Order: sequence, then structure tokens, then C-alpha cells
Amino acid sequence: MNVDGKHYRTIWLEAPDCVRIIDQALLPHRFGFMDLRTPDEMGAAIRNMNLRGAGLIGCAAGWGVYLAVRRHADAPDFAERIAADSAALLATRPTARNLAWALERMHEALAGGAPQDRIETARREAQAITDEDAEFSRRMGQHGLELIRGIAKRKNGAPVNVLTHCNAGWLAFVDHGTALAPVYAAFDAGIPVHVWIDETRPRNQGASLTAWELGHHGVPHTLIPDNTGGHLMQHGLVDVVFVGSDRTTAAGDVANKIGTYLKALAAHDNGVPFYAVLPFSTIDWTIADGVRDIVIEERGSEEVRFMTGWDDATNRLATVRICPEKTPAANYGFDVTPARLVAGIITERGIAPASREGLRALYADLHP
Ligand code: MRU
Repeated sequence: MNVDGKHYRTIWLEAPDCVRIIDQALLPHRFGFMDLRTPDEMGAAIRNMNLRGAGLIGCAAGWGVYLAVRRHADAPDFAERIAADSAALLATRPTARNLAWALERMHEALAGGAPQDRIETARREAQAITDEDAEFSRRMGQHGLELIRGIAKRKNGAPVNVLTHCNAGWLAFVDHGTALAPVYAAFDAGIPVHVWIDETRPRNQGASLTAWELGHHGVPHTLIPDNTGGHLMQHGLVDVVFVGSDRTTAAGDVANKIGTYLKALAAHDNGVPFYAVLPFSTIDWTIADGVRDIVIEERGSEEVRFMTGWDDATNRLATVRICPEKTPAANYGFDVTPARLVAGIITERGIAPASREGLRALYADLHP
């Protein structure tokens, strides 16, 4: 997507020994980059959320393996070293399925190849994962566009109000995004759209990333406190909810940023269609019951107890505590929305009912 007229992806190979990312920890206050040269640096960038979002985490894991292969290409215990670096990458964030998926794909590509080809094989596969991610996001945008077009028709050209949670825009992937891809496609097609953005406590990805993205693209939007969605839906101010997903089960249960489930409940109660937008790489075919079996990341309590933002008075970032000094806090990163609350799953192949049969039918060639 474009930033000040220049096209960017969120991750790319800057030089043979250097993967460059947009440093999302700086946004929305500064637009800057981070250079990563070792698998450890890549792991730290994922863990510290300099990059985040399911699709981008997967691509980063692919590039992390590439950096590991460069480092160990000639080692006699090559396989063990790659396995150790991969295990470290896998441990960085437990919920996003794309991370394990990309590691598996890199290992398959490397298996059995000649030692002298290892680096090039790893580079090609990481690049393929990255290019595919961008293309799949573009396709999800086209499928979701038709839904928005239908709503716009029914509204006789009045703006279509979309509500989204967290950031499943291009910053969470390589380009276009998932939940926001249909919004960008609709806006670019001249359909009037407006987005309600949940701020998404505790890390505020909605306020800092989604608002930044949509603003740069010129899409009308309004930031709302996380608890506002139900009220808006009761008053007919939301036409559709689009969210991303970090892991979706074979039966269509959707894990996404904490708070998504409450939006789905409110949408269900008010007859507002709630869609999850995700690529194949987010689906975990091994899990049937998402609430029971999806591992939910728990992060440090300081993310809840403190807030960081720009202090206009001193012109710098400031972190402040928002509770009594000794108040304990819990920080679950994600929750699971059961399939029964999901109107459909928008994928790169089309829109499926949120059910085992729906997803299987779409991916019958891959999961007969
Ligand atoms: O913790 P994050 O920022 O990596 O969480 C990812 C998300 O932004 C959301 O859960 C998103 O809606 C799905 S990832 C595309």
C-alpha cells in the first residue's frame, strides 16, 4: 500500500543478509524501518511486536529460517541448528497459526535439497510465501468487495458502515490486509465506506495502526472506545463487521484479538452480519473446538497497567500508569468466536459458511 505516494510492503529482502521491516512499534508517531540479520533478531522483532499480525508473523518466520540457513549453511549439524532456530521462532507467539504453517513450509522446501542450494532454496520459498500472502489478501479484498457492493445497493449509495477490531489491515500482512482489504477495494471502486475502529486495548492496534493505515489511504473512519460497538449496532449504525483471525479451526471457530467475541455477540443480537477474513494459512485443520483447544497467548500485565502515547507538551513518547501502583492485571491476547456467530469466512478462494463442511468444500483439493 502507499505511504505518502510510495508503495511499501511490510517486509522485504533489502540485501542478501538483511530483511527489512516497517517498525510497527513506532507507529503512528514515526514511520521507520528495522533491519534484521539473524534469526534471533527476527525472533525478537516478532516477540516485541515490531512486526505483528498473523500473516506477517508467518512471512517473518519464513525469512527467519532464511537467515538461519545463511548462518548455518555449511555446518555439519545443519538440520539440528535449523530445528533449534525454528523452535525459537515458533515459541515467540503461540496463537497465530501462520507462524507454524510457514515454518513447516520452509522445512518441506529444504528437505532433501543439495547443501549448495540451501540458501537459494530458502530465499525462494520465503519470497514465495511473501508474494502469495500479498496476492491472497488482494483476492480476499475482491470477494469482500462484492458483499460491500450489495450493502451499498440496498442503502441507495449511503455510506456503508463497517466495524473492525484490532488491525487486520496491510500492516498485519504483506499488503492489502484481510479485514480491511474489502474496505480498500470498495473505496478504490468508488463505493462510499466508513469504518468504525475499535481502539483495541491494551496495545491499541486499532488506534495506532488501523487509524494510521486508513488515514493514509483516505478512507473515512472514526476511532471508538472498545465498548462502543454494541451501542452503535443497536442504533443501526453498523452495516457489517469485518475482523481478521489469528487461528481458525476446521469447524469455523475464529480466534482473533481479545474483545472480538463480544463484538460478535452484539452483532448476532442486532442482526448485523459478522465476517472473518482470513487466508488458508490461518486455518488449523487439526483443531475442532476452538474455545477448548486454541492456545491463547498471555502477555505481560504491564501492557494493561500502563499506556504509552505521544505527549504533545514535551513532544515525545510518554508512558503512564493508569491504575494503582500494585493493582494486578491479566492480559489475554486473543479470544475465540464460535462458528455459530460468524456469518461467513472470506478467503482467497471465496466466501465459505463458517462450518466444517463450508471450509472443506472450499479446500477440497487440499483436504479431501
Ligand atoms: O497481537 P497482534 O497485533 O499480532 O494481533 C493480531 C491482530 O492484529 C488481530 O488479532 C487481527 O485481527 C488478526 S491478525 C491478521
